[in-house]
Amino acid sequence: MDAAELERIKAGYLGRAGALTELLKGLGKLPPDERRKAGGLINGAKDRIEAALDSRRAAIANAALEGRLAEEAIDVTLPGRGRSLGGIHPVIRSWRRIEAIFGSIGFDVADGPEIENDWYNFTALNNPENHPARSMQDTFYVDIRDSAGLNLLLRTHTSPMQVRYARQHKPPIRVIAPGRTYRVDSDATHSPMFHQVEGLWIDEQISFADLKGVYTDFLRRFFESDDLQVRFRPSFFPFTEPSAEIDMMFTSGPNKGRWLEISGAGQVHPSVIRNYGLDPERYIGFAFGSGLERLTMLRYGIDDLRLFFDGDLRFLRQFA
Ligand code: DAH
Repeated sequence: MDAAELERIKAGYLGRAGALTELLKGLGKLPPDERRKAGGLINGAKDRIEAALDSRRAAIANAALEGRLAEEAIDVTLPGRGRSLGGIHPVIRSWRRIEAIFGSIGFDVADGPEIENDWYNFTALNNPENHPARSMQDTFYVDIRDSAGLNLLLRTHTSPMQVRYARQHKPPIRVIAPGRTYRVDSDATHSPMFHQVEGLWIDEQISFADLKGVYTDFLRRFFESDDLQVRFRPSFFPFTEPSAEIDMMFTSGPNKGRWLEISGAGQVHPSVIRNYGLDPERYIGFAFGSGLERLTMLRYGIDDLRLFFDGDLRFLRQFA
């Protein structure tokens, strides 16, 4: 029964044409002493009916309230969902691993500006002004000059860190400089922002053999595998002479048997050593510059560079 039905029942007894009302109307026809008795009975009945209606009305209201409470119940004892912690991006994972690996063989880690001037980014690295080698890299220029009047740009590689670091430290110099780099380039295999790690070892007798040993050891530790081979392929960079492309090949696993280009490298050019503020007759060494995205893709078997920058949690959560 609901409230409306209750009101209909009430009208049936107490309304204008209700049963009790009719009885009350009939009282006048009774003799006086019976009238009082009947009046008393009718009023008693009316009180009981009203009391019954009240209690039923309360019961209906109560049931409605109970129903709503049950429907809208909140389980305050449920544990909260908490805040998710976020995870470490796979490229940053590589970055940290590389710092740890080189740190363990005595390399310092250096950090430098992403907005660089063209002396550090190009000139000091043996790319003279207007030299065609500058067009090897498509540069984002910044519309202002620094306090020395030099053009500012987004560094196109981490190599300027060789010069910045070497000018502030005495040999032996052993450093890596991981960081963000920028080029006007965007497709499935190029992103306008990407990461490199620069490596530099300068002392009185550092040779290509040291480069080969250090870099091969690095790759074995980075990929946690001894099943890989490394080769040096002649190449050209203005800041190294001789220059090489480092290729690696897995000898087991899904990528086995294919040579993969992994890094540029070389023996630092005497002019660059001079720009470090050092005597090229005395100091010699090697440098390398490797792409962090490339290393990360090979380590985790990722086949599209854009996955790193899309921010898709389904991808990123796998590394959290
Ligand atoms: N800076 C070069 C690039 O971005 C990579 C590179 C090549 C770095 C040879 C080096 C090097 O230190 O020796 O393409």
